[in-house]
Amino acid sequence: MKRVGILISGRGSNMMALIKAVSEKRIPNCKIAIVISNVRGAKGLALAKKAGIESLVLDHRGQTREEHDRAMARELRKRRVDLICLAGYMRLLSSWFVRTFDGRILNIHPSLLPSFPGLDAQRQALEYGVKYTGCTVHFVDEKLDHGPIVGQAMVPVLPGESEESLTTRILDEEHRLYSASLSLIASGKYRIEGRSVVPLDGA
Ligand code: GRF
Repeated sequence: MKRVGILISGRGSNMMALIKAVSEKRIPNCKIAIVISNVRGAKGLALAKKAGIESLVLDHRGQTREEHDRAMARELRKRRVDLICLAGYMRLLSSWFVRTFDGRILNIHPSLLPSFPGLDAQRQALEYGVKYTGCTVHFVDEKLDHGPIVGQAMVPVLPGESEESLTTRILDEEHRLYSASLSLIASGKYRIEGRSVVPLDGA
């Protein structure tokens, strides 16, 4: 059984997709052990509570990045968390945190990386004029939106598309992709080849 901690800062729709997928056994052998938000009043906190998942707020203000990350690590360790999913967690993690949980942190990003890392990825894609964009689940390393890629899903950009509609269609794919990706990583049936996560036979 893999114990999962989810870090959020806001709405929490990816967090809910993971909670639902675990409860419906679409992600076998996983338990969501804790949800941590760095933002008090984040919408996702109420959703986690409603779903019966333990949650807590660790406000980052007034501390260094590493102090805050060490506080998160303490809470994650208390719950014996094996894997950490960033789900709209809007803060950079310290090198200390990334190294401490190396190979155990996943992130989801709303573009086909390495295109459009950073904020407002959907707007960046529209402004660039690409015909296809999508989302990426990747392991977290010390560079922003950068680690080995677990999975990607493609979304066509429709003629006249608004940022809002593109964001909504990407989000639907995010929810599917994150659940499938966590399922693979939690199964342990993968290997990392360079920058790519490759499922093993039977995964
Ligand atoms: C998603 O688009 C995710 O890819 C990005 O932040 C957004 C979070 O949305 N990292 P939600 O909080 O999961 O609804």
